[in-house]
This record gives sequence, C-alpha cells and structure tokens, in this order.
Amino acid sequence: MAVHLPEPFKIKMVEPIKLLDRQAREAAIRRSGYNMFGLHSEEIFIDLLTDSGTSAMSQNQWAAMMKGDEAYAGAKSYFHLKEVIDEIFGFPYFVPTHQGRAAENILATCAIAPGDYIPSNTHFDTTDANIRAKEGYPVNCIIEEAYQTNIFHPFKGNMDLSKLQDFIEKVGAQKIPFGMITITNNAGGGQPVSLENLRGVSKIYKKFDIPFFIDGCRFAENAYFIKLRESGYNDKTILEICQEIFALADGTIVSAKKDGLVNIGGFLAMRDRELFEKVSNELILREGFTTYGGLAGRDLEAMAVGLLEVLQEDYLAYRLGQTTYLADRLQELGIPIITPPGAHALYVNAGLLLPHIPPIEFPGQALAVELYLEGGIRTGEIGSFGFAHPHPETGEIVHPPFELVRLAIPRRVYTQSHLDYVAEMLAQAIQKREQISGYRIVYAPKLLRHFTGKLEPILSSRN
Ligand code: F0G
Repeated sequence: MAVHLPEPFKIKMVEPIKLLDRQAREAAIRRSGYNMFGLHSEEIFIDLLTDSGTSAMSQNQWAAMMKGDEAYAGAKSYFHLKEVIDEIFGFPYFVPTHQGRAAENILATCAIAPGDYIPSNTHFDTTDANIRAKEGYPVNCIIEEAYQTNIFHPFKGNMDLSKLQDFIEKVGAQKIPFGMITITNNAGGGQPVSLENLRGVSKIYKKFDIPFFIDGCRFAENAYFIKLRESGYNDKTILEICQEIFALADGTIVSAKKDGLVNIGGFLAMRDRELFEKVSNELILREGFTTYGGLAGRDLEAMAVGLLEVLQEDYLAYRLGQTTYLADRLQELGIPIITPPGAHALYVNAGLLLPHIPPIEFPGQALAVELYLEGGIRTGEIGSFGFAHPHPETGEIVHPPFELVRLAIPRRVYTQSHLDYVAEMLAQAIQKREQISGYRIVYAPKLLRHFTGKLEPILSSRN
C-alpha cells in the first residue's frame, strides 16, 4: 500500500500554465499594490490563493450541467439539489445562493440587530464582515490548544465550551440571535471540530434557546477527520457522519465552492419556517427567486452531483494525502507550519520565519510577496493585513494570534510534482529572509481591506 494514495482519477483535459520571468513578476506585483488579489491569473504559475471555486469538476458534473433546467421557477434542477441537501444535511427548508457570503448576508440581514453578538470557534473573514456590516460583533471562542501551533490535538477547531457558556451568561442570550461554529475552522488553520464538541456546543445553544448555525463549507473534510480520529466513527460512512453533525444544528450556511466541488454556488438551510419566509423575501430581493437564488439551473445540477461526489472516501483520502505530503516536505525543509495540517490548506507561520517584521508591518504579506517573486506562486495572508480589527470597547487594534501564509490546495487540480515545486520555492524564498522587508498600507477600505487594499514595501529595513 502506497503511503500517499495517488489521484483517484485520470486527467482528461489540461489547462496550460506559464512561469513569467522574474522581471515580469516584479512588475506584476508592483502594479498589484503588493496585493495577491490584484495579480492577474495569467501572471501566476501555481495558484494557492484559495481552495474556493477553484476545483476541477468531474465528467459527471459536466454531464449534469447539460441537463440544467433553466426555468425561472420550480426548475427540475432545484428539486434535484433539494433531494441531495435533504439527504446529507436534513434541513426541511433551504435556499440556493450564488456563494457562501450571500447566504451569510441574508441570514445577518434577517436576524442581526445593532449591538448583537455572534459567537463561533473562529469566524471566517466574510462571516466576520457580514456581522460587522449589521453593526454586530463576531466573537471567537476557540480552545486554547488552537493557539499552540506545534502541538498535536486531533480537533484544534473545537469550541471552548466554558468560554462559550461564560460569554453567553455575560452578554445575555437575548443579545445573541444565533450562534455558530465553522467546520473545518478555516481562519484557525483549517482544523476540524469533533462530534463530541459539536454535541456540547449544540447543548449550550439549546439551553439558552439560541438557534445554532453551522458554517459547513468543508463539511466532508471535517467528517473525514471525525472518521479517522474520533473513537466510534471508524465504521461509519462519511454520509452518516454528516447526517449526525447536521442533526445537531438549526441551520447551515454552505459555500459549495469548497466541498460542493463547484466553481460557483452555495446555500442557506434551516429548520424554522418563519425564518425561511423572511429569508425567502430577502433572497428574492437580492439574489433571485427561491428555486434558483442567483444561480443557473446548470449550476444547481453541478452542485447536486458535487455534494455527493465529495463524500467518496478514496477522494477524501487522496485530498488529505496531498496536504499531508506537502506538510511533510515543508517540515523536512524546516519551514514552520501549523500542525497537524488541515485538509484544504497549509498555514506557514510567517511570524516565526520573519521575526524582524512586526505584525503591524504584515510579515505574512511579506512572505507571500516573496514567494510570488521567487516562483510565481500565489498564496494568501491570514494575519494582521486581513484580520486586525479595533476592539469593540477600547478601539485599540487587536492583532490575530498568528501571522500566517495560507497555501490553499484547489481540489483535484495540482499534482504531487506541483507540490514539490511549491516546497522548493518556499525554501528558496526564505534563504535570505533577514533581507525581506515589511509593508505599509497606502490604501484600505473600511471592511475586508485585504481584498482591495494597496501596500508598499518599507524599504529602510531592506538590506
Ligand atoms: N465560510 C468559510 C469558512 C469560508 O472559508 C468562506 C470562504 C466563506 C464562508 C464564504 O464563502 O467565498 O463562497 O462567499 N472562503 C474562501 C477562502 C474565500 O479562500 O477560504 P464564499
């Protein structure tokens, strides 16, 4: 038996990629304002910016697209998707949305009043921003082990149950219109949450009569970790584990651009009929009618097939095998990463690698720029550029616990030799790491500045 399972698929169609020369890469990164989102795809050799919407679809998904029913209302494709969502997630009501953040916005609009709090393990950036956009406060109650980057804990995405309970008692349940948890915990290193913890979270929310919503973008990867690491689940299928997870919740927000294996799509599902009515009205206003919600019929078909395909265990074993392989390569090269690695991404600890750059000068961003310059590889910063926020009471800037660079692995897109190249380029990029400079912001919008903000290098610290 091979240590790393090879791809359980053959490649039928290829997309050429090209490495620009160093001078062209320097010009491109300057033009982008040293922001990875400002680069053009053609300027990139290997794109690890995100695992979202970047999956390669299967022949069955492409075939299903041809059967898309494009009726405005009541399309067959909607009922196909409904059947699949019913089976895996088991919520009686759902609306399709064009992606996860549209579902977040609709839920936030229907439920959050100014001054409300929404607890979670760690909110992802768009969830965080959608809560703030309604003048609510996102609150993170992750376990302490999540802050220890190099210890093994099988479920580093778990919620700290006493932190959660204390927080609810402190602010009062009437200030919490719904509570959340993110599986896997993307902003906290792509770490899974155990079923035991999910049961605990569900119990606390229930006790205080707070509706419980799971951010389930990477539900299948989380279920696979449960199968591998939690006692009592080894003999269960991924589908059975998913059903057990979602039976604990009152609803879910899913960006199907991750474990739905599609390039666009998402949904918001729930048990409460009254909420569904509110959500439907909001959806019609913003996204589209309740049976298509901002998507084409063919997108609904691709999602229905993808949501089932992702449950296949040989696929999940290969998926986790890829990140584990890259993690091993990086560790051999002495590059500090968050361990154990998650399934969708690796998180390089740029704060440790570049200790001469303070958080306020964005060491994660500095490393991401260097990796692009070195090998044409695009990654994403998960550190102070994206996640530093003023404290709700004191206004003081609170930095995230780590300055990370995320190497997100698109699903079914890159081979092992691409990953070898990434590891080698990263090792090369940090050879003269003391010469890497920090950055300062020259433009930033109020929310989500990492998407469109512009930076410049602080040249005095270079050389
Ligand atoms: N929740 C989580 C945990 C996510 O990772 C994302 C997106 C969203 C919600 C929003 O979904 O993009 O479809 O609107 N994460 C992407 C990423 C963008 O790169 O991790 P979306």
